[in-house]
Amino acid sequence: MYENCKLYKRNKKLKPEVVTIGLGYIGLPTSALIASNGTRVLGFDINESVVDTINQGKIHIIEPELDVYVKEAVEANLFRAAAKAEEANTYLIVVPTPFKGNNEPDISFVEAATKGIIPLLKEGDLYIIESTSPIGTTEKMQKLIYDSRPELNEKLYMAYCPERVLPGNVMFELVNNDRVIGGIDKKSTQKAIDFYSKYVQGELHATNARTAEMCKLVENSSRDVQIAFANELSLICDKADINVWELISLANKHPRVNILQPGAGVGGHCIAVDPYFIVSDYPMESKIIGTAREVNNYKAFWCAEKIQNEKLKFELEHGRKPKTALMGLAFKPNIDDLRESPAKYIAQKVLQNSNNEECYIVEPNIYSHSVYKLTDYEEAIEKADIIVFLVAHKEFKKIDISDDKITLDFCGINIK
Ligand SMILES: NC(=O)c1ccc[n+]([C@@H]2O[C@H](COP(=O)([O-])OP(=O)(O)OC[C@H]3O[C@@H](n4cnc5c(N)ncnc54)[C@H](O)[C@@H]3O)[C@@H](O)[C@H]2O)c1
Repeated sequence: MYENCKLYKRNKKLKPEVVTIGLGYIGLPTSALIASNGTRVLGFDINESVVDTINQGKIHIIEPELDVYVKEAVEANLFRAAAKAEEANTYLIVVPTPFKGNNEPDISFVEAATKGIIPLLKEGDLYIIESTSPIGTTEKMQKLIYDSRPELNEKLYMAYCPERVLPGNVMFELVNNDRVIGGIDKKSTQKAIDFYSKYVQGELHATNARTAEMCKLVENSSRDVQIAFANELSLICDKADINVWELISLANKHPRVNILQPGAGVGGHCIAVDPYFIVSDYPMESKIIGTAREVNNYKAFWCAEKIQNEKLKFELEHGRKPKTALMGLAFKPNIDDLRESPAKYIAQKVLQNSNNEECYIVEPNIYSHSVYKLTDYEEAIEKADIIVFLVAHKEFKKIDISDDKITLDFCGINIK
């Protein structure tokens, strides 16, 4: 992996060829991968503890194989982290792009990261944004850069190249996934393709910056719309007394139908966020995308209401308050990530509606939580009267539940 690094080992002060700005879930694996190919990388992050951890050859996030890549790259002096950017030939922007109040995209991190490197830029440099960004962000950054450094006008290469890796399989997908690469002009696109072709074995598809930005947003919006269809079916089926899981399985026997599975809503920092980047800028034109967001958000609210109704029914029938187990907090099965999780929202709603009755919150993928007191899943199943499956974690699929318990299944726990 490190045949090309002998020169760099002899002189640690050699300047980096690539600077990555942001060393999180995407920036760190990307930096380590580039370094593992013999390119000198400096990772810049404003979080000093991240910088210190990486410089010790360790990692601050959970991702299979990443620890080995980082350790080897740091030991080979091909990769180091710093709390300040340095001069290089290529700059990758990999900072967060969250949404702010009213579901509007917040590109202030991209702006801050760009401003931070403007003084370092020189003719012929390549500037790439990987952060998921609203349409037109690369052009905005082009203006920001050229307004403060007019002498560089048209002398930089600038492109947008979105990331589409699956957490848990990042080191494989970074190399093997196809990439969409859009420059602000044709020579920028080509320069960025030349750069990625050194590290990526998937196909590199050339386009312009706006299309590449939109492409990332559309990929996640497409998933969101398709899940919204399944979630809408689940609401209709509940009223129509039809088992939605059986219905979808039968409909999917049609050779050209492929309906996804419903759930407790949609979560995560991509699918539940990125569609807003389109809706916010094109509200009149993005009716389906916007409605899908509403349907998926409503599904979580509907689940919370269902639980509340089931609790009231139990109390009327049994003359006492029920004990409830909420199974799962993560945004999808078998992970520990709670970002934008509908299950977390449902748990919060159920606790708000509780009147001191017992409620067990279960999440087998995390040890503790700052807000929720977690209960072991077997203990919760044993004690609860009402068991609510919010996330189809593998542990829950093995559980035998006695007939005297009431079960609410919002995630198709028995679907293989
Ligand atoms: N995580 C994923 O699975 C995934 C997948 C595809 C796309 N993306 C996109 O990639 C981008 C990065 O996501 P992430 O998950 O890596 O984020 P993250 O929050 O894990 O990491 C971002 C890092 O950037 C640092 N940072 C913030 N502002 C900075 C600045 N001005 N200068 C230097 N460092 C700065 C933070 O300290 C943090 O360490 C986002 O736009 C996200 O939407 C993420």
